[in-house]
Amino acid sequence: MKQSIRFLLAVAFGSDLASCLGRVSRRSVQQGWSLQSSSCLSGSSACSSGGACCPSSLFCIAAANDEVAACCTSNSACRGSIEGQPGCADTSWSLWQGFQGNDFCCQVGLVGVYSSSGNVAGTCVASGAAGTATTARLVSTGTGATVTSSSTSSTRTTTSTKTTTTTKPTSTTTKSSSTTTSTGTSPTGTGLVFAHYLIGTVDSTTNHAQLDVQNAMAAGIDAFALNQGDPSASWSLSTLQQLFTAAEATNGKFKLFFSFDTFQDGTVSDHVSPFLMYKGSSAYLLGPNGLPVVSSYGGYSLLSEWQSFKDQYSVYLIPNLDVAGAGDTSEYYTDPSSYLASYESIVDGYFSWESAWPQSTSGVPQNVSSTGDATVMSYAHSTGKTYMMGLSSLQFKDCCGGYYYRIGESNLPQRMTEILQLRPDFTEVITWNDAGESHYIGNVWNESLTGTTILNYANTATWPHNAWQPLITSFIAAYKAGVSATQMEPPGTAPIGAMWYRPNFKSCSNVSGGPPANAASALDAVNYAVVMPQGTTGASLVITSGSQTFSSIPLNAGLNYGTVEGMQAGPQSARVVVNGATSVQAKSVFDVQANPSTCNFNYFVVGFS
Ligand SMILES: *[C@@H]1O[C@H](CO)[C@@H](O)[C@H](O)[C@H]1NC(C)=O
Ligand SMILES: *[C@@H]1O[C@H](CO)[C@@H](O)[C@H](O)[C@H]1NC(C)=O
Ligand SMILES: *[C@@H]1O[C@H](CO)[C@@H](O)[C@H](O)[C@H]1NC(C)=O
Repeated sequence: MKQSIRFLLAVAFGSDLASCLGRVSRRSVQQGWSLQSSSCLSGSSACSSGGACCPSSLFCIAAANDEVAACCTSNSACRGSIEGQPGCADTSWSLWQGFQGNDFCCQVGLVGVYSSSGNVAGTCVASGAAGTATTARLVSTGTGATVTSSSTSSTRTTTSTKTTTTTKPTSTTTKSSSTTTSTGTSPTGTGLVFAHYLIGTVDSTTNHAQLDVQNAMAAGIDAFALNQGDPSASWSLSTLQQLFTAAEATNGKFKLFFSFDTFQDGTVSDHVSPFLMYKGSSAYLLGPNGLPVVSSYGGYSLLSEWQSFKDQYSVYLIPNLDVAGAGDTSEYYTDPSSYLASYESIVDGYFSWESAWPQSTSGVPQNVSSTGDATVMSYAHSTGKTYMMGLSSLQFKDCCGGYYYRIGESNLPQRMTEILQLRPDFTEVITWNDAGESHYIGNVWNESLTGTTILNYANTATWPHNAWQPLITSFIAAYKAGVSATQMEPPGTAPIGAMWYRPNFKSCSNVSGGPPANAASALDAVNYAVVMPQGTTGASLVITSGSQTFSSIPLNAGLNYGTVEGMQAGPQSARVVVNGATSVQAKSVFDVQANPSTCNFNYFVVGFS
């Protein structure tokens, strides 16, 4: 098992992004229903009747009575006992209930469908490819890899090389989709990671747009979700053009798509013209159904506008329909089947924004939760839709009429852990460059901030967040390999990670205007996240804040993170010690100020080196 994980991660850290969609899975084999597929995964064999696979250690009993083939422990029918205790013969498969209430199994990520005029429980198709078939009911999701297409369907016009990963003898992976293995480079299907990108002024005489694309690609991100607040402004169109030129130059390795900002411009049709301008670009991201992806920031109240947009244009629509500020407590998260019912015929997937942080008004320290995500994801999957989770560090805004803080602290690594557990179809980092809300992970360019108060608390020169990128790269590799946070790995033998802390205490008592809204939910703490190599032993982390050195924290293989309360004024440092010797460390460039002139809740983020 371990060897194959390493193999996958080695691939993931290379330039060959798409080929790491293959995932490692925990699975067990038992008597149960067969997998409906025309090509079988490693460890399973085709039933002679065709179209079905059983684990190679079991016997295949031919389909009968509108049921699919059964996988039995002996060469005699075991249908009755499977019917009594329905399940898939391999726990990595998902169980669906289709025609006449009969069960069948699909790879995770595919959708079970059936024809009411047929004589089989059901078959498995790529999300969005159900056609006129009826979507079956998802009974339980398997532990296996999320795949994006059935072996026979092709959503993109790439070369037709068949997938080969199914037969790789050293690997316990399930399979990559045929479309991703065909080119090995183009982001496509599910399992992708995007970063939300605010379209601002980018000086066209610089290489800034190109750097954004190159840096994001190097970090393992597949595409930018372009957030355009003003779809007709000339600066905005210039930035679009620069980004598409830069992305096209990557020869399909990095993609772009629009995320309509309906808070800034709530008329969906206003966003159509730039979309039409670029949807044919070779850099435009296509969804699992082969159509251009359109997402959004907000827009729940715009049902009829989305409807007419979807009627007019062939897109893969994955809008953000949750309730601003509410964390995962709103009806969207607690009762999606009624809240989203009117959207079911319009969307292809759901993007949850708000669950990336706890509620914006919690007033007390709180950990981010994925309970709401699990509810919406299960609803989405039961209706054949995909689900996208947000990943973010914090929110701190002191501009544009807002002055507030939103947790914060260990939110970023905690959320990574949750995403690796839940394994949504897509992940979106919020954000690449939104300096105004302090949750950027890439460069923020001065030309887009000139004249704003944002420069008082967020810019790349003083508050760079780039040190979060190696952590995100390691997370992306794990997400694509389908492993947990404890199985995350650094790219080499040295640990990677970052330490982050606020420039001042949360009370900010001497600053005019006082602390931001929701400051009470903050902790005066030094935060860290470190990814240790697999097999690590005898490692610990020593944090020093001002004059205080805290007792050392044991570090294990994979992702370690924490929030160490008791931050003091002065310099901050964190040191990884392995078997008594310092391995890597992070040292503050800027001290924590006891008596600051501004109250800044943005973080100084310092990488380990
Ligand atoms: C948040 O989670 C950490 C463990 O990661 C735990 O120590 C802490 O008590 C939790 N905080 C709250 C407010 O629940
Ligand atoms: C960007 O602005 C910050 C703050 O005003 C300044 O410190 C930094 O030097 C500027 N960077 C560039 C590249 O102009
Ligand atoms: C507030 O400012 C006064 C005067 O500069 C200083 O003595 C005091 O320590 C400051 N208090 C805090 C909490 O920063």
